[in-house]
Amino acid sequence: MPKGTYYFPEHFLWGTATAAAQVEGRNQNSTWYAWEKEEGRIVNSDSAQVACDWWSGRWREDFDRAQAANQNAHRLSIAWSRIQPEPDRWDEDALDRYREMLTGLVSRKMTPMVTLHHFSEPLWVAEMGGWENEAIPDLFAAFVRKAVEALMPYCNLWVTINEPNVFAYGAYLEGNFPPGKQDLKTAVGVMAQMVRAHARAYHTIHELQPESRVGIALNVRGFKPATWSPLDKLAAKIYSNLFNEAFPKALKDGVYQPFLRKEQIPEAAGTQDFLGINYYTNELLRFNPFAGGGMFATGSFPKNTALSESGDIANIPMGLAESVVWGNKFGVPMIITENGIDDSKDAIRPRYLAEHLHALWKVMNGNYPVEGYFHWTLVDNFEWERGWSQRFGLWELDLETQARIKRPSAELYAEICRTNGISADAVEKYAPDAMPALFP
Ligand code: BGC
Repeated sequence: MPKGTYYFPEHFLWGTATAAAQVEGRNQNSTWYAWEKEEGRIVNSDSAQVACDWWSGRWREDFDRAQAANQNAHRLSIAWSRIQPEPDRWDEDALDRYREMLTGLVSRKMTPMVTLHHFSEPLWVAEMGGWENEAIPDLFAAFVRKAVEALMPYCNLWVTINEPNVFAYGAYLEGNFPPGKQDLKTAVGVMAQMVRAHARAYHTIHELQPESRVGIALNVRGFKPATWSPLDKLAAKIYSNLFNEAFPKALKDGVYQPFLRKEQIPEAAGTQDFLGINYYTNELLRFNPFAGGGMFATGSFPKNTALSESGDIANIPMGLAESVVWGNKFGVPMIITENGIDDSKDAIRPRYLAEHLHALWKVMNGNYPVEGYFHWTLVDNFEWERGWSQRFGLWELDLETQARIKRPSAELYAEICRTNGISADAVEKYAPDAMPALFP
């Protein structure tokens, strides 16, 4: 096959994604601050109290890195717990700090995308019952109004809630995120609250900024039956419905319908200007009534698939293309808001990156509307209950010294962003093991 370049459309967004609680450090008002203090909650009792030290200003050097690496966009989140540390107090200094960060992006010619909820809330919200509190859509909307009023001069691309599915199930079913509950019915109810909160936020943002574009970032995980068994097929269908489908469907037609439940949430209909897709991996499911936690299947990865360092992610590039084909049914453009792999040695990341982007390029040639790609993540960050045990950065972080060390994947991604495409030269140089799949 001749050597060439797979080009992406003009104005395609190329960036990385980050989240406040994972990079900022020094926040004592958030649910994760209290959570990491509890015995046994975080692997190795790791802490996010310094993290990548963005709150002391290191975002500047990291944005410089991203800019020098030809990225033209960045997705970050802002912490509700900083902006509203108490129910009746807004912290103007925190808003100023975020203004600075966003102008920092704009002045570096990078389009900002801002996430308003990424897995954490103020402690006072948790004390009032968190996402089980009936008033949460109102509380969230008040915060969104304040934040968007302050930040709309610099941003018009908003993600209301990051991965409502991962959050609701992590915090209320698996119990590995605060508040650590383990009840399927509660988790399903929390998702309904998140649909309402999203709808309130969507309407609030559009009222303030009519030209804004507002969506969610959904974790899309393709569930496939592990065998021909009808029970495995049924398990895959139910998991897909609960995890992938129920939330974005409610934002399309105002009907929240997880499995056997059906609820009208009319204010949510038509509240999605784009669908953000966070894709990491697909999974095979085998029916197992003893799976525990109210669930009824066990997962695995297809045989002979390369796995990430922790074994949590399998390299299945076609899954990204499949998620785009699936996402198209919601009738709005899509943005890949996260995609990446834990790999401290950068042993598999270059290939994962090249192969996933190639799969994306292929599906986009079928005219599926995708406007951008944000790699997870810029610099190694605090990976929630997994602490620092998983390393997703294009740059390695030395936690002792705060030094950043460039991984080869960062060079590959910089070439992709620079050329707006995947060239054979770049793949040959940085991800030679992806050559057979990309340039046979
Ligand atoms: C989350 C990120 C997280 C990443 C890798 C996604 O589910 O949105 O916050 O760090 O996965 O674990």
